[in-house]
Amino acid sequence: MSEPIPLIEAAKVARERAYAPYSQFHVGCAVESADGKVALGANMENACYRLGVCAEQSALTAAQQAFGLENVRRLVVVGGPANSGAEAGAPVTPCGGCRQAIEEAAALSGHDIEIVCCDHTGEQSISTTISELLPAAFSLDD
Ligand code: THU
Repeated sequence: MSEPIPLIEAAKVARERAYAPYSQFHVGCAVESADGKVALGANMENACYRLGVCAEQSALTAAQQAFGLENVRRLVVVGGPANSGAEAGAPVTPCGGCRQAIEEAAALSGHDIEIVCCDHTGEQSISTTISELLPAAFSLDD
């Protein structure tokens, strides 16, 4: 796997493609495979609010097409308000539903997944794993 910094930059590029006119909160996600391939996603909202899709789920869909969910090893999420400028903010952590979606990939592969959570600048970050964010998950094994 590569170093996380290029992956943070990739997630920031993905965030520029967020479609979030309702929340004005833009999130980008980059998913990396065991052999260094990268798939991107961003949040996509809808006038019917509940149909909105998070960046992580969008990127996991792209990852399934690009290299298969079972090969996912690392995920970077970056987010913040649309017009937050250059000042760093708080890291964005995956919502509960996205944690369950990431867990699906971890259960498929039998590997834990590294998760780097960042603010919109990529300067503030928290490094964790899906097993830490979603302990005692309901999974394929159940
Ligand atoms: N959102 C994500 O895309 N990922 C997260 O981890 C947190 C929230 C999106 C959903 C919605 O479009 C907007 O951010 C505000 O909640």
